[in-house]
Amino acid sequence: MSSVLLLNGPNLGILGRREPEIYGTDTLDDIERAVGEEITGRGWRVVAEQHDCEGALIRAIQDNYDTVGAIVNPGALMIAGWSLRDALANYPRPFVEVHLSNVWARESFRHDSVIAPLASGVIVGLGSLGYRLAARALVATVR
Ligand code: DQA
Repeated sequence: MSSVLLLNGPNLGILGRREPEIYGTDTLDDIERAVGEEITGRGWRVVAEQHDCEGALIRAIQDNYDTVGAIVNPGALMIAGWSLRDALANYPRPFVEVHLSNVWARESFRHDSVIAPLASGVIVGLGSLGYRLAARALVATVR
Protein backbone atom coordinates (compact mmCIF):
# COMPACT_ATOMS: atom_id res chain seq x y z
CA MET A 1 0.00 0.00 0.00
CA SER A 2 1.29 3.50 -0.86
CA SER A 3 2.01 5.95 1.92
CA VAL A 4 2.32 9.66 2.57
CA LEU A 5 5.15 10.77 4.87
CA LEU A 6 3.91 13.12 7.60
CA LEU A 7 7.07 14.70 8.98
CA ASN A 8 7.06 17.00 11.99
CA GLY A 9 10.13 18.66 13.47
CA PRO A 10 11.21 19.90 16.90
CA ASN A 11 8.66 20.81 19.57
CA LEU A 12 5.72 19.56 17.51
CA GLY A 13 5.38 16.32 19.50
CA ILE A 14 3.80 18.35 22.30
CA LEU A 15 1.09 19.92 20.13
CA GLY A 16 -2.10 20.30 22.10
CA ARG A 17 -0.20 21.58 25.14
CA ARG A 18 2.33 23.80 23.37
CA GLU A 19 1.28 27.46 23.45
CA PRO A 20 -2.29 26.54 22.43
CA GLU A 21 -3.13 30.20 21.79
CA ILE A 22 -0.64 30.02 18.90
CA TYR A 23 -0.70 26.39 17.79
CA GLY A 24 -4.22 25.30 18.77
CA THR A 25 -5.36 22.33 20.82
CA ASP A 26 -5.16 19.52 18.28
CA THR A 27 -2.52 16.91 19.05
CA LEU A 28 -0.25 15.24 16.54
CA ASP A 29 -2.48 12.14 16.80
CA ASP A 30 -5.48 14.28 15.81
CA ILE A 31 -3.51 15.63 12.85
CA GLU A 32 -2.36 12.18 11.78
CA ARG A 33 -5.99 11.00 11.86
CA ALA A 34 -7.15 14.01 9.83
CA VAL A 35 -4.48 13.45 7.17
CA GLY A 36 -5.43 9.78 7.07
CA GLU A 37 -9.08 10.73 6.40
CA GLU A 38 -8.05 12.93 3.49
CA ILE A 39 -5.87 10.36 1.74
CA THR A 40 -7.77 7.15 2.32
CA GLY A 41 -9.80 7.65 -0.87
CA ARG A 42 -6.62 7.09 -2.87
CA GLY A 43 -5.84 3.97 -0.90
CA TRP A 44 -2.91 5.69 0.82
CA ARG A 45 -1.96 5.49 4.46
CA VAL A 46 0.07 7.79 6.73
CA VAL A 47 3.63 7.17 7.86
CA ALA A 48 4.01 9.65 10.73
CA GLU A 49 7.43 10.71 12.02
CA GLN A 50 8.11 13.42 14.61
CA HIS A 51 11.61 14.10 15.87
CA ASP A 52 13.20 16.86 17.88
CA CYS A 53 16.62 16.19 16.34
CA GLU A 54 17.53 17.18 12.78
CA GLY A 55 19.50 13.96 12.19
CA ALA A 56 16.50 11.79 13.03
CA LEU A 57 14.33 13.78 10.62
CA ILE A 58 16.94 13.29 7.89
CA ARG A 59 17.01 9.55 8.57
CA ALA A 60 13.20 9.43 8.38
CA ILE A 61 13.34 11.06 4.94
CA GLN A 62 16.05 8.71 3.70
CA ASP A 63 14.08 5.70 4.95
CA ASN A 64 10.91 6.78 3.15
CA TYR A 65 11.89 7.41 -0.47
CA ASP A 66 9.16 4.94 -1.43
CA THR A 67 6.35 7.22 -0.17
CA VAL A 68 4.17 9.00 -2.75
CA GLY A 69 4.71 12.46 -1.25
CA ALA A 70 5.22 14.23 2.05
CA ILE A 71 3.76 16.86 4.36
CA VAL A 72 6.54 18.61 6.27
CA ASN A 73 6.38 20.96 9.22
CA PRO A 74 10.05 21.62 9.95
CA GLY A 75 9.31 23.82 12.98
CA ALA A 76 12.18 26.20 13.70
CA LEU A 77 14.44 24.20 11.36
CA MET A 78 12.76 26.18 8.59
CA ILE A 79 15.11 29.01 9.54
CA ALA A 80 18.53 27.36 9.18
CA GLY A 81 18.05 23.60 8.89
CA TRP A 82 20.47 23.24 6.00
CA SER A 83 21.00 19.49 6.49
CA LEU A 84 17.26 18.95 6.54
CA ARG A 85 17.00 21.08 3.43
CA ASP A 86 19.62 18.92 1.68
CA ALA A 87 17.80 15.74 2.72
CA LEU A 88 14.58 17.07 1.21
CA ALA A 89 16.44 18.05 -1.97
CA ASN A 90 17.10 14.34 -2.49
CA TYR A 91 13.57 13.25 -1.55
CA PRO A 92 12.26 12.00 -4.89
CA ARG A 93 8.62 13.00 -4.50
CA PRO A 94 6.65 16.25 -4.03
CA PHE A 95 6.16 17.67 -0.57
CA VAL A 96 4.06 20.44 0.96
CA GLU A 97 5.47 22.60 3.78
CA VAL A 98 2.99 23.42 6.56
CA HIS A 99 3.16 25.87 9.45
CA LEU A 100 0.29 26.04 11.92
CA SER A 101 0.90 29.69 12.74
CA ASN A 102 1.21 32.59 10.33
CA VAL A 103 4.97 32.89 10.55
CA TRP A 104 4.95 36.22 8.71
CA ALA A 105 2.75 37.76 11.39
CA ARG A 106 5.31 36.78 14.04
CA GLU A 107 8.94 37.59 14.91
CA SER A 108 11.15 38.47 11.95
CA PHE A 109 13.46 35.47 12.57
CA ARG A 110 10.53 33.25 11.44
CA HIS A 111 10.12 35.00 8.10
CA ASP A 112 12.59 32.91 6.08
CA SER A 113 12.44 29.25 5.19
CA VAL A 114 15.37 27.37 3.66
CA ILE A 115 12.90 24.56 2.94
CA ALA A 116 10.21 26.51 1.07
CA PRO A 117 12.05 26.87 -2.29
CA LEU A 118 11.98 23.07 -2.61
CA ALA A 119 8.33 22.60 -1.66
CA SER A 120 5.47 22.18 -4.15
CA GLY A 121 3.55 24.61 -1.99
CA VAL A 122 3.53 26.18 1.46
CA ILE A 123 0.53 26.54 3.79
CA VAL A 124 0.81 28.83 6.81
CA GLY A 125 -1.47 30.23 9.46
CA LEU A 126 -4.47 27.93 9.12
CA GLY A 127 -3.76 25.81 12.19
CA SER A 128 -4.21 22.06 11.93
CA LEU A 129 -6.50 22.60 8.91
CA GLY A 130 -3.27 23.30 7.00
CA TYR A 131 -2.30 19.64 7.23
CA ARG A 132 -5.67 18.58 5.78
CA LEU A 133 -5.26 21.05 2.94
CA ALA A 134 -1.73 19.79 2.27
CA ALA A 135 -3.06 16.23 2.13
CA ARG A 136 -5.75 17.35 -0.33
CA ALA A 137 -3.09 19.00 -2.46
CA LEU A 138 -1.15 15.75 -2.65
CA VAL A 139 -4.33 13.81 -3.45
CA ALA A 140 -5.09 16.25 -6.27
CA THR A 141 -1.61 16.50 -7.76
CA VAL A 142 0.32 13.25 -7.24
CA ARG A 143 0.16 10.97 -10.27
C1 DQA B 1 5.88 26.40 13.28
C2 DQA B 1 6.43 27.83 13.19
C3 DQA B 1 7.89 27.89 13.59
O1 DQA B 1 8.36 29.22 13.53
C4 DQA B 1 8.07 27.38 15.00
O2 DQA B 1 9.45 27.35 15.33
C5 DQA B 1 7.45 26.02 15.19
C6 DQA B 1 6.12 25.81 14.66
C7 DQA B 1 4.37 26.36 13.00
O3 DQA B 1 3.87 25.27 12.72
O4 DQA B 1 3.70 27.39 13.08
O5 DQA B 1 8.01 25.15 15.83
O6 DQA B 1 6.53 25.60 12.31
